[in-house]
Amino acid sequence: MSPDLSARAVDARELMDDPEADQRMLERTYLRFELVNRVVSRPGALYRRDIRPRARQRPLRILDVGSGGGDLCRGLAVRLRRDRLDADITALDADGRATRWAQAHDGGAGVRYRCALTAELVRDGEVFDVVLSNHLLHHLEPGELQQLLRETRQLVGEGGVVVHGDIARSRTAYALFAASTLPFSRNLLAGSFIRADGLTSIRRSYSPRELVAVAPPGWLVRRRLPARIELRWDAADA
Ligand SMILES: C[S@@+](CC[C@H](N)C(=O)[O-])C[C@H]1O[C@@H](n2cnc3c(N)ncnc32)[C@H](O)[C@@H]1O
Repeated sequence: MSPDLSARAVDARELMDDPEADQRMLERTYLRFELVNRVVSRPGALYRRDIRPRARQRPLRILDVGSGGGDLCRGLAVRLRRDRLDADITALDADGRATRWAQAHDGGAGVRYRCALTAELVRDGEVFDVVLSNHLLHHLEPGELQQLLRETRQLVGEGGVVVHGDIARSRTAYALFAASTLPFSRNLLAGSFIRADGLTSIRRSYSPRELVAVAPPGWLVRRRLPARIELRWDAADA
């Protein structure tokens, strides 16, 4: 039976956020993020729309906030290399378990992994051309969300863009994820938090209308397929 999805389940907690979470399950979750992101997050579209055109003009500095297993950064590094474009990519996560795992699985992609909050990068005066996040917004409390938006906006330089991608909460998104992951729960996804946390994530996620209501001036909400949402700040629109 589907839970009530009429409002965000702000009290629901993801198992991977527990500091005492089983290490092997956590590591298997980082490993499987890549597969999930390939199917639901459409990193190729982000690359073609926001990254490649900028990278054709100059070497880019890219920041992924809440990078988890680091697969999006590694995927971007591969795409950029394939297109003979230059970029310096930083994968940032507040959880040292994530950055340690991602660093150990870089596989020659050349991504920098850093365990820190965006506030530290702002203090250090760091500037990026593209700041992105994936599946991070729904994790945050309201004050943390506003802080993230303020700080990621501060971290982009001239001509830069911030793209926070996440799930758009809906009954369809929940039903599709539940049905499509069920056959894999005893094999491919076994021993990971992917299915349980994915369902919790959808319950915690914003609808487009809710995100519009909390977005500060200058930020745009875009619906994307499948059941995706983007919160964007683009210097070109400002
Ligand atoms: C659901 S995971 C998503 C990981 C990755 N972006 C992906 O799409 O597979 C959310 C990640 O955000 C990290 N996180 C949560 N709050 C954060 C914050 N305020 N700053 C940086 N990372 C944060 C968590 O540690 C976790 O690794």
